[in-house]
Amino acid sequence: MSGLDDVIAAETTLSEVDGQNGRLVICGHLLDDLAGKVSFEDVLALLYANLLGVDEAELRTELAHARLRAFAEIAHLDDNLLALSITEALRALMARLPDGEDRSTALLLTAAPAVFVPALIRRKAGRATIAPDLSRGHAADMLTMLSGETPSSAAIAALDTYLVTVSDHGLNASTFAARVVASTRAGYNSAMLAALGALKGPLHGGAPGPVLDMLDAIETPGNAEHWLAGELARGERLMGFGHRIYRVRDPRADALKKALQRLGAAGGMNAERLDLAEAVEREALALLHRAKPDRKLETNVEFFTALLLEALGFPRDAFTGVFATGRVGGWLAHAHEQIETGRLIRPQSKYVGKAA
Ligand code: ACO
Repeated sequence: MSGLDDVIAAETTLSEVDGQNGRLVICGHLLDDLAGKVSFEDVLALLYANLLGVDEAELRTELAHARLRAFAEIAHLDDNLLALSITEALRALMARLPDGEDRSTALLLTAAPAVFVPALIRRKAGRATIAPDLSRGHAADMLTMLSGETPSSAAIAALDTYLVTVSDHGLNASTFAARVVASTRAGYNSAMLAALGALKGPLHGGAPGPVLDMLDAIETPGNAEHWLAGELARGERLMGFGHRIYRVRDPRADALKKALQRLGAAGGMNAERLDLAEAVEREALALLHRAKPDRKLETNVEFFTALLLEALGFPRDAFTGVFATGRVGGWLAHAHEQIETGRLIRPQSKYVGKAA
């Protein structure tokens, strides 16, 4: 009851999370048929079929122009904003954007995280920001704005795979928050800001940074069992494991592991890091299965997210912002779908306090 487990709170044509069989369907396509095979713009065209009704090529052009509009906001970065964490600074920057329910607002909100996250990373490191380029795709442009160099095709493919993989995932906490706010007709940006707030927490999108902290603390495969057992004995949760819906392995973890393997050493993937991660995953699963034999705790999306985003050059405090760059597609599509129902979301609570 307290976590609304198994409650169906919306009908959607956007995605289906089949937790028993470990299947994710996005707009009628299995994740396996999308991840590593199509661009983020392709998936946005699917998610935004009702919101924008444009094909991939049109969306690619409109999104590129929206990135340029978002970049104009970077001129207003001040020291107070730069003192915040990247997730909080992203939220503050997003809050300055308009709040309508029109297509221009939807495009600007979709484009903005890909521009703001690299700009914040660079400015916090005392480096100049890099403007978007209309000729590039979304993933390629984000990587260029991050490093200032032309990314390899392997790196572009890896980021595209990541953005596609996290673009939508049923009624997760942030998407539900977006739908609740959208149902009040507050506007797309209000819905997105609510979603960003929910995404920040370590039980949702804030886990991948702590996954790397865990790998750093473990240091070598031989330490994994001892370190992980100590955490569990202290009642800590192992970051990157467990999921409310999946009772088998999260299919997104496999999609991202494949992307990492394709990226390879040439793309920045450190083989030793991957070996350590695989050892940690093995030990963690063995310990969790022993500790919770009835619960079926498996690897979730955040475990391999951490390794992939690290290999692509994103600092760990930017991981939640990169997640938002992909998930914004789902948030806005769900916000639009909720608005179209015309129904305010307003559940009831059961009073269990003192009688009057
Ligand atoms: N490590 C250790 N124990 C765990 C873990 C974990 N990662 N996950 C669940 N458990 C335990 C809980 O302590 C609980 O034990 P109890 O019954 O003795 O109290 C039991 O398994 C069931 O846990 P719930 O909290 O009911 O599971 P829920 O489905 O609500 O949790 C969640 C899902 C929040 C993701 C949880 O597994 C977790 O905290 N994981 C670690 C954080 C993480 O990886 N977050 C990213 C999630 S993916 C995403 O949102 C994009």
